[in-house]
Amino acid sequence: MLDRDLMLIAVEARKNSYSPYSNYRVGAALLGKSGKVYTGCNVENAAYTPTNCAERTAVFKAVSEGEREFTAIAVVGGLGDEPSEFCAPCGVCRQVLSEFCDGDLRVIMGNPDNIKVARLDEILPYSFGKKDLE
Ligand code: THU
Repeated sequence: MLDRDLMLIAVEARKNSYSPYSNYRVGAALLGKSGKVYTGCNVENAAYTPTNCAERTAVFKAVSEGEREFTAIAVVGGLGDEPSEFCAPCGVCRQVLSEFCDGDLRVIMGNPDNIKVARLDEILPYSFGKKDLE
């Protein structure tokens, strides 16, 4: 799948964002090795800390449906209705992605008109993971 096509799916997923407190709307589209795409959006909460980011929503949906290996994730965010120039996954989401994804996971950011791609291990160097507990 093309990076831009995955980004367009993230843009659609962003429309479901439940973000009445921050008004920062995020969508994610996670591509499984099976070829299936799992979408997610941020889901906020009045108590703030239970808020779930779009990326983690997508990962948890996928894993709960039996898929545990992924090749790419597209993320798009911004205040209000318009996607911003650039929204990178937060630190917690990088850690959750690292549980299931290799360092070469393609992290596709920006918006459909201006895409920036990084590897997961570029945005999460020196990570702590399964290897440290073996
Ligand atoms: N957010 C995400 O969904 N993903 C990120 O990687 C960054 C932050 C959400 C959480 C919260 O609902 C809003 O953006 C503002 O932080």
